[in-house]
Amino acid sequence: MVKNATSNNRGNVNALKLKFVLFMEERSKAKIIEEPIDDTGKSMDFIIEQRNAGNSKAVNVTSSNRIDAGINHGKSNDNNGEILKGKPSSMTVGEVAEQANESNNSASNFESEMEHALEVIFSFVPTLVLKSAILLNIPDIIASAGANASLSLDEIAAKLPTESPNLHHLSRILTYLSIKGIFVQTQTSNNPSDIRYGLTDFAKRFYVRKNNPVSLVPLLLMQAHPVLMAPWHHLHECVLQDCNAFEKAHGKDLWAYEKDDPAVNDVFNNSMSTLTVLAMGQILSCYDGFKEVKTLVDVGGGKGTALAHIVKAYPHIHGINFDLPHVVQTAPSIPGTSTLFLPYFPKTVDQIENVGGSMFDSIPIADAIFLKNVLIDWDEESCLQILGNCHKALPENGRLIVAENVTVESSRPNKSIEMVADLVMIALANGGKERNEQEWKRLLQMSGFSVIKMMGLPGLFSKMKIIEAIKV
Ligand SMILES: C[S@@+](CC[C@H](N)C(=O)[O-])C[C@H]1O[C@@H](n2cnc3c(N)ncnc32)[C@H](O)[C@@H]1O
Repeated sequence: MVKNATSNNRGNVNALKLKFVLFMEERSKAKIIEEPIDDTGKSMDFIIEQRNAGNSKAVNVTSSNRIDAGINHGKSNDNNGEILKGKPSSMTVGEVAEQANESNNSASNFESEMEHALEVIFSFVPTLVLKSAILLNIPDIIASAGANASLSLDEIAAKLPTESPNLHHLSRILTYLSIKGIFVQTQTSNNPSDIRYGLTDFAKRFYVRKNNPVSLVPLLLMQAHPVLMAPWHHLHECVLQDCNAFEKAHGKDLWAYEKDDPAVNDVFNNSMSTLTVLAMGQILSCYDGFKEVKTLVDVGGGKGTALAHIVKAYPHIHGINFDLPHVVQTAPSIPGTSTLFLPYFPKTVDQIENVGGSMFDSIPIADAIFLKNVLIDWDEESCLQILGNCHKALPENGRLIVAENVTVESSRPNKSIEMVADLVMIALANGGKERNEQEWKRLLQMSGFSVIKMMGLPGLFSKMKIIEAIKV
């Protein structure tokens, strides 16, 4: 592959060439070809063609330690083909080494960039493979075998609701999710049937469902539900026209869809409950504004999860969980709320009344109103309507407590997860979006409220603020 060098620096040149060939071969999948780069072929020791996204670079080392380099743009070159060069230039051996280094760097950059590009393209795969494992109940199967249990493929398969599971498929799914840090594979011998699967701490915490108040499984089942994924296929249309992606996909908005599809209604409301369990812990540990409230309406309260936490912390409060009729119908019954969806919650909470209706029509009267993650779903006009009805339902100086994400104008999000909620609003909601402090204040002032407090939450919900306003 490497032709004879004829210079005095033959040893050095050969060493350089060998190094060059090796790293080009290894790192850049370089292809070494023997055809001369020019007609005579006299001045050439070797030619390396590096295919790089359709641009191949031919480097020609001469016997005088000078090198001819040609760039082949856009045309690939195979062993039988002709090398297509750009205008050749002469370089010293040092320059070749530098160029080789650059090639090496750019080749490894190319590889890592391509890996990243492919990961982005296939980023739906972990979500949906994890969903399949969850639907097969695998994290719970392993967890129920003991705190640090690990099970063989056969032991897992024996718990599946089928007589004839496909073990090849199962093992590939489990192997992939082990690479993703969800399962831990252990193997005591070379025999593949010795492989056992345990749960990582991370999976125990978030992907086991049973007796787990912080399980994120309901969120996964919601976001990866075909009905809730379909609107993402219409995101581009929301740029071309000012449209509602969910309506484009399903012909009606999410709330109307839920009314007609009880399964989606459940999946959505269960997912909201899970996130609310996590958020309420933080809200109640930082904010004590509920202590003087006697009657509290949670507008768009879903299954009443937030209210269940509030009245547990402040048992003197009479809570009204207000949401669309098909949503409150699925809320735990009174007395003994929360037993259905929050099994870990005490069964004594009985101060919650579930009331069905639309916040665009009217809102039950109370001395305070709680609105968590509701206004984010709506455009300005709808927010003003909802807030206008809140204003009507409250007495003079009545308190409105809003819990919403507040964006910070000066700091652009630097983690993609920080933008997810905002994009979910384009896909699923009715013109909804995250808002900054000024936008929230403006909306509230326009609706007859005076903001008296804006309080941030720590940790996971640090984007969320409690905005306390008084009816004026
Ligand atoms: C994003 S969820 C938030 C649920 C709850 N506040 C929480 O934080 O878990 C929005 C809620 O608004 C409710 N909603 C939508 N349209 C409504 C309407 N017209 N009247 C009352 N509630 C409505 C939905 O049913 C849903 O429960």
